[in-house]
Parts: sequence; structure tokens; C-alpha cells
Amino acid sequence: MLNNTEITEEMIFQCFAAAQQSEDRGETAASFIDVEEYEAQIMYPEFARWAAKAGHPKLATLFRKVAGEEKLHSVWLRDLYEDIGVPERGEDTQRAIDALQTIRENCDELIKTNPQAVIEKALTVAIRVEEREYLDIYPRFRDQAKAANDDKTSDVYQRVVDSERQHAEWFHTALTDFKQAAAA
Ligand SMILES: [Fe+2]
Ligand SMILES: [Fe+2]
Repeated sequence: MLNNTEITEEMIFQCFAAAQQSEDRGETAASFIDVEEYEAQIMYPEFARWAAKAGHPKLATLFRKVAGEEKLHSVWLRDLYEDIGVPERGEDTQRAIDALQTIRENCDELIKTNPQAVIEKALTVAIRVEEREYLDIYPRFRDQAKAANDDKTSDVYQRVVDSERQHAEWFHTALTDFKQAAAA
């Protein structure tokens, strides 16, 4: 619970969980699945809820569409690691879940008074999240699999990189359109 109704971009960015690379590639995969499922089930559905509440159903649909693709990413990797089960909740994922919970009330309040600010920040954060994944985190996962001659896994990570890049582009376009509509 926060004292004043304020939401900064950084506060929303704290809701991003970074997948962790481990020396053990199975652990890298487990962290990947944990984070992708968090994005699919918690983070992007929450962003979609904000957008719907703020009166932007199309943006809500976009966040839900991306959530569905994050789910797919986890499924692609699950197909290669059949006995992975439910991965342990990562430390950073739990931290992100807590951060999301902390700002939830303030977001709801702020959506009533300044919906545009919340939506702009959510889209800006979504772009940062996707960029970090496709430019930094998942290329490293891909290269780790490649170095171990695990082509199947590296191919999946490459498909994920391409998909996250597309997510970043969609959110870029959505933010540009949103700002233009707000200025009109
Ligand atoms: Fe993803
Ligand atoms: Fe994504």
C-alpha cells in the first residue's frame, strides 16, 4: 500500500521478471518457463485489465494477445523438456509479483483520474520488457544452447527472440497511435 497515488514508469517496470541463465541448461529452461508463464498469466493480463478499465478495449485486446503468445513461448520449450513440470517460482518472478500487487491499488485509483498516464507508462514498460528480452536475455539463452550443440533448444529461443521483437514493434505502434489519438 502506498501513501500517495503515484505511479512512475519505474514502479511498473519493477513488475518485469527477468529469466535467469544458469550453468545448467535445464535450470535456464525452467527459469524461462517460469517467467513466460508469469507474463502470460499475471503481468500482461493485469496490463489488459488496466487498459479495459481506462476505456481502451483495443489495447486490452493487444495485451491479451501478447499474453497468449508468451504462453506459447513456454509451451514451445516445454515440448523439449517434457518432465519439467511446474518450475519453482524464481526469486525475481516472486519479487515482480509482489511489485505488481503493491501498485495495484494506486493504479486503479490513478486510472480513474488520469487513465492516459497509466496506459502510456504500461505501454512504455511493455516495450522495455520486450526489448530487454529480444536484445539481451534470450539471445544469451540461444547462444548457451548453441554452444552445447542443442540445436532444437537454440531454434526455440531464436523463434522466441523473433516473437519478442514483434511484440516490441506492436507496442511501439500502439504507443504512437495512443499518443496521437490523445493529442488529437
Ligand atoms: Fe515471451
Ligand atoms: Fe513478449
